[in-house]
Amino acid sequence: MFFSNLFKPQGIGIDIGTDKIVVYLDKKGVVLNEPTVISINTKNNQVIAIGQKAKEMIGRVPSYIDIIKPIENGVISNFEATEKMIDYFMKKIRRDYGNFLNSQALISIPLDITEVERKAVNDVILATGIKNIYTIDKCIATAIGNRLKILDSIGNFVVEFGAGRTEIITISTGGIMAYKSIPFGSKSMDQNIISYIRDKFSILIGETTAENIKKNIGTALENKEKKIKVKGRDLATGMPKEVIVTNIDISNAIDKNIETIVANIEFVLEATPPEILNDIYEKGIILSGGGSLIDGLKERISKQTKITTYTADDPSMSVIRGIGMILADMTKYKDIYTKMN
Ligand SMILES: Nc1ncnc2c1ncn2[C@@H]1O[C@H](COP(=O)(O)OP(=O)(O)OP(=O)(O)O)[C@@H](O)[C@H]1O
Ligand SMILES: [Mg+2]
Repeated sequence: MFFSNLFKPQGIGIDIGTDKIVVYLDKKGVVLNEPTVISINTKNNQVIAIGQKAKEMIGRVPSYIDIIKPIENGVISNFEATEKMIDYFMKKIRRDYGNFLNSQALISIPLDITEVERKAVNDVILATGIKNIYTIDKCIATAIGNRLKILDSIGNFVVEFGAGRTEIITISTGGIMAYKSIPFGSKSMDQNIISYIRDKFSILIGETTAENIKKNIGTALENKEKKIKVKGRDLATGMPKEVIVTNIDISNAIDKNIETIVANIEFVLEATPPEILNDIYEKGIILSGGGSLIDGLKERISKQTKITTYTADDPSMSVIRGIGMILADMTKYKDIYTKMN
């Protein structure tokens, strides 16, 4: 027993997202959850901060400091910065939890990623010394993380609405029956809020402010009015200015994002075989990913599709929960993950 445990590879799971990276160690749980942000001094190419500290610098540093978000739309867009970031986090985990040389890694990746993007994921993990690398589709990990019995011959419908990518799938018997993978997520709502406030109030706000407005008063429904004071820079005078923004404004700003999600859900439903569609009518739609926390989204989807919609528990952690469940039983899920190299 002792020896078999000693030689059993330690499982490590990694979900690298547009907003955050989460790392899971088998039998220990989540050991890291940090923003995927890195700041670099361009004068000497030295790293200044990584993770939460780098995120806090956004919009507050002189121009010679570059703040990089190396993951865009769920894929690595800046290889060198991602490599530095992953290397730093892995060293931290090894310091805190011991070495895991004899380990296997399970990494979530979006659907429809190119060979080059896949290889980039492989190479950053290989560089940390881990040799056995497996990948799992992010949206399948989400389904497992939401405790759906995906190996049974029953249809399930899952939406993973992240910061930079939205994936919508029908899954049955361990396989994807119909899907859509869209290279935008909740973060594009923030950009639309910035544009809307610039056009309507002539003030400029930063992306952190826009994200906070979205979380506070953003809604996919026409609710009773909520107001918030927003400070920004007056585009005419260059001076600070405060305006009152309502949830109706924000709902106008993000409505096209919501409409796109609903239209893509309808597309996947239309592409789903009829027997499975019956299962989905009975079981409902599961909404997951941090973006699904926006107020009123599940009501809006239910209303437009006529299918009951539920938001997952702790939705931005569904993917890593699923990865943890697979790591705990690699044999059971052997047909749904893929070996790299
Ligand atoms: N309460 C909330 N209301 C609205 N949006 C929220 C809320 N909480 C988090 N979000 C949004 O969820 C997004 C983060 O989701 P998540 O953690 O799933 O992203 P990610 O995994 O890093 O990205 P991806 O998987 O798309 O690459 C952010 O855009 C954030 O603003
Ligand atoms: Mg994600």
